Amino acid sequence: QKHELVNDFRQFRDSPLLKIWIGPVPFLVLFHTVLNNPVHMDKAYAYKFLHPWLGTGLLTSTGDKWRRRRKLLTPTFHFSILTEFLEVMNEQAEVLVEKLDKEAGKGPFNCFNHITLCALDIICETAMGKKIYAQSNYDSEYVQCVYKMSDIITRRQRMPWFWPDLFYNYFGEGWEHNRSLKVLHSFTSNVIYERAEYIAYIESDSESDQGMRKRRAFLDMLLKTTDEEGNKLTHQDIQEEVDTFMFRGHDTTAAAMNWAIHLLGSHPEVQRKVQQELQEVFGVSDRPINTEDLKKLPYLECVIKESLRLFPSVPFFARSICEDCHINGFKVPKGANAIIMPYSLHRDPRHFPQPEEFRPERFMPENCVGRHPYAFIPFSAGLRNCIGQRFAVMEEKVILASILRYFNVEACQKREDLRPLGELILRPEKGIWIKLEKRKQQH
Ligand code: HEM
Ligand SMILES: *[C@@H]1O[C@H](CO)[C@@H](O)[C@H](O)[C@H]1NC(C)=O
Repeated sequence: QKHELVNDFRQFRDSPLLKIWIGPVPFLVLFHTVLNNPVHMDKAYAYKFLHPWLGTGLLTSTGDKWRRRRKLLTPTFHFSILTEFLEVMNEQAEVLVEKLDKEAGKGPFNCFNHITLCALDIICETAMGKKIYAQSNYDSEYVQCVYKMSDIITRRQRMPWFWPDLFYNYFGEGWEHNRSLKVLHSFTSNVIYERAEYIAYIESDSESDQGMRKRRAFLDMLLKTTDEEGNKLTHQDIQEEVDTFMFRGHDTTAAAMNWAIHLLGSHPEVQRKVQQELQEVFGVSDRPINTEDLKKLPYLECVIKESLRLFPSVPFFARSICEDCHINGFKVPKGANAIIMPYSLHRDPRHFPQPEEFRPERFMPENCVGRHPYAFIPFSAGLRNCIGQRFAVMEEKVILASILRYFNVEACQKREDLRPLGELILRPEKGIWIKLEKRKQQH
């Protein structure tokens, strides 16, 4: 399935084929690279540093293990559970709006961490069924370590001399890495034990079923699920997946929402159109957002997609070619590594004329007709695509809608000030600086 994806690309991109060597590994870059510094793009290496934390969960596993896991996990993202998660998203959005309210009318501030902590609260509660109050309690050791770990891994990727373990342990951050790892693993491990006991208790006592039933979390489904032979996942299997969701499920959406806020803040006409759509759905009410509302926000959805086009949270990913094939007339042997870059792919003027312009209208259904299905791939494509994409879009809608219902946003940075850094996640170097103005209360 992987090489299909690669094969299809050549039909619409005729840039020269480029081969680069990363250490001993040759890589094909399928499109001219826009992101600077391709040195740390080796999938094997990029992902290697995730292994101590994530083990071989869905993101990092391959072959049969991946296939079995994916089959088990796909139902956990079913629509009915997403509806339950909507409640969590609304609650955390409310906390965020209260925090932002304190900044309103006061001049420029960096909203990056406010939004990231909100995303972290949402993923903790939906993945593990555990509230961590990241938005109100910065001191949580777990929260700090989630933050720190992404930084530590990114730094190591940037410094090839720290790739060998020996050097890393002696001269690098090996000690700090191990300390954070211990905090991360013992936290999720405890949550899993607690939750398993709770589920056993609920199941043994049918009367408590109505009274004290908690909201479901991904973890509950992982604890209950069985494969064809009736085998349950082990504690370690579950831990890998929970840690993967914690990592993959908040940084990505947080970055996406921040980029969208910047773009909305620098395009007042787009912002007004979103607010008009919100006005039509919610009127003067400040009620939470329900699933029906979500369907009535098509323009906001276009804004989300157009933001992901310009700033895809995952700026590149790597694949190995599974069969000999030809790309742009070059023979590519089986086993070659290819890098796919949504960041440059999304800027192909044949599919997106004047690609640097922010134009949500591009994603209106009538304007998508005839576009190549792989011209826009923020969530990757094919069998190995993002399992959390519906979750992600839903979260973005709830948070962005909540912000724009209460505030007008003004961006304080120009596009050239943003300096997107493309490592594991595409992030603005110095955060996202905005000004907020409270909208007139309508009642
Ligand atoms: C805007 C938000 C998001 C973006 C842009 C995004 C993007 C991606 C991309 C490009 C991949 C493929 C990576 C690769 O092949 O190396 C991927 C995989 C994955 N994503 Fe997401 N993602 C987002 C949100 C989420 C969320 C919210 C979750 C979980 C709740 C999630 C969980 C995963 C997992 C588990 C995989 C591995 C799937 C597999 O290999 O079978 N993602 N994502
Ligand atoms: C970190 O943990 C690994 C694996 O347990 C170990 O090999 C390494 O020596 C540790 N590093 C430091 C600096 O303690």
